[in-house]
Amino acid sequence: MFEGMDNSVETSECQEETFYKHAAKYWSNIPATVDGMLGGFGFISHTDIQGSSKFLQQLFKMKDAPGRGRALDCGAGIGRVTKHLLVPLFDQVDLVEQNPAFLEQAREYVGPCRKLGELYGCGLQDFVPEEGRYDVIWTQWVLGHLTDDHLIQFFKACIGGLRSGGVVVVKENVTSSGRVEVDAEDSSVTRPPALLLELLGRAGLRCLREQRQTGFPAGLYPVKMYALRAAAS
Ligand SMILES: C[S@@+](CC[C@H](N)C(=O)[O-])C[C@H]1O[C@@H](n2cnc3c(N)ncnc32)[C@H](O)[C@@H]1O
Repeated sequence: MFEGMDNSVETSECQEETFYKHAAKYWSNIPATVDGMLGGFGFISHTDIQGSSKFLQQLFKMKDAPGRGRALDCGAGIGRVTKHLLVPLFDQVDLVEQNPAFLEQAREYVGPCRKLGELYGCGLQDFVPEEGRYDVIWTQWVLGHLTDDHLIQFFKACIGGLRSGGVVVVKENVTSSGRVEVDAEDSSVTRPPALLLELLGRAGLRCLREQRQTGFPAGLYPVKMYALRAAAS
């Protein structure tokens, strides 16, 4: 239903509404646990965080490195990435997540922490970060829930949300088939890397670095990390 003839994710307004409603319904039935966030693969969380941490450390060594002031965790769920990756590295971490129960649980999961900033209960398709607020905007395992147009719109808004030297990081499953693959159960798509990069380019971002996550069990989608900045910068 969502795979366009040109391999993009195209939707009519009605399909779009159904796409988001189904996803929200799916996530409302998922336990607010690490295992729930990772589709029963909670045991890969440590490897995932290690890979992300190494990637971020490389970014901090760049000439025009991002600062360590404030990060945004997008599609944050219960705050798994916030707690284990971002809180140790940044002074303040904001979260944006469409499921209110996950956000509520994030307060408990992250625990009492002066670094926890704003918690925005909002879909990324409706979210506009405050101008110039973030050193790093981290999006992980959520972009498959956005249509192509909303993905582009969201990242255009993210460019405005970055501080000087700031970066956007995308960590996502990608297909090896060269095709968009649809998951009707959770109402998401998995895109091939070329399409993901094309959409990010159309948002006005250029890729500074990319890396494949290693150490995950065979049979899972490949996972790519991209660090991006405004093409115009
Ligand atoms: C696979 S989980 C990943 C959670 C977290 N990023 C992690 O890595 O632990 C996907 C998360 O995206 C959220 N989500 C789904 N659609 C969304 C949307 N349109 N906007 C924001 N969050 C969304 C879900 O509620 C869920 O918390």
